[in-house]
Amino acid sequence: MNIEETIVAIDELKLNGFPHEHVKLVCETVIEFQPDIICEWGTNAGNSARMLYEAAQLIPCPLHSIENGQQGIPPLLEGCHINLHHGQGLDLTLALTAGSERPLILIDDHHVYQTTYDNLAILSEQRPQAVLFIHDSLASEATHALMNFLSSNGGYKVTDSTSESGLTRLWPV
Ligand SMILES: C[S@@+](CC[C@H](N)C(=O)[O-])C[C@H]1O[C@@H](n2cnc3c(N)ncnc32)[C@H](O)[C@@H]1O
Repeated sequence: MNIEETIVAIDELKLNGFPHEHVKLVCETVIEFQPDIICEWGTNAGNSARMLYEAAQLIPCPLHSIENGQQGIPPLLEGCHINLHHGQGLDLTLALTAGSERPLILIDDHHVYQTTYDNLAILSEQRPQAVLFIHDSLASEATHALMNFLSSNGGYKVTDSTSESGLTRLWPV
């Protein structure tokens, strides 16, 4: 499938929390950035993981999804070749992306202020080559953390999708 067909196919899945604008931004990023690995956390019902799985087929490239809570395969991910992990998202992502030249990382955890800020600070230091996505970036704590992080870190070009609860992309410059 090409990018247009992939976006239509993902839209037809009607994934919760991932409207067309988010799907388009992610698919365009995968094509433009050509990641050699995609990592995301947390898996939960698998909406973000399924979107990334379909988008990753465009290249293709391996996808890892990490959850520190409930275990098992969400129905949305049945039959998809996704590497599911149980553990802490940041720690496992750092381990999985060691040696990666072009990691793409999506964070969809609880979006509390300190964790969001710390994740950004650590990833920008340890994986400066990564493209980062923050889901629910319009949630007040996530917005606050992003603004504070970006005010002292000029290393990214920022693209915001303001549909629904927001998706922010940080592209290293
Ligand atoms: C908003 S839900 C994720 C929704 C999911 N991405 C989807 O699209 O269906 C947040 C999830 O992140 C998980 N989580 C929170 N902190 C985490 C961490 N440090 N590492 C891995 N998973 C985490 C929670 O257990 C919860 O299942």
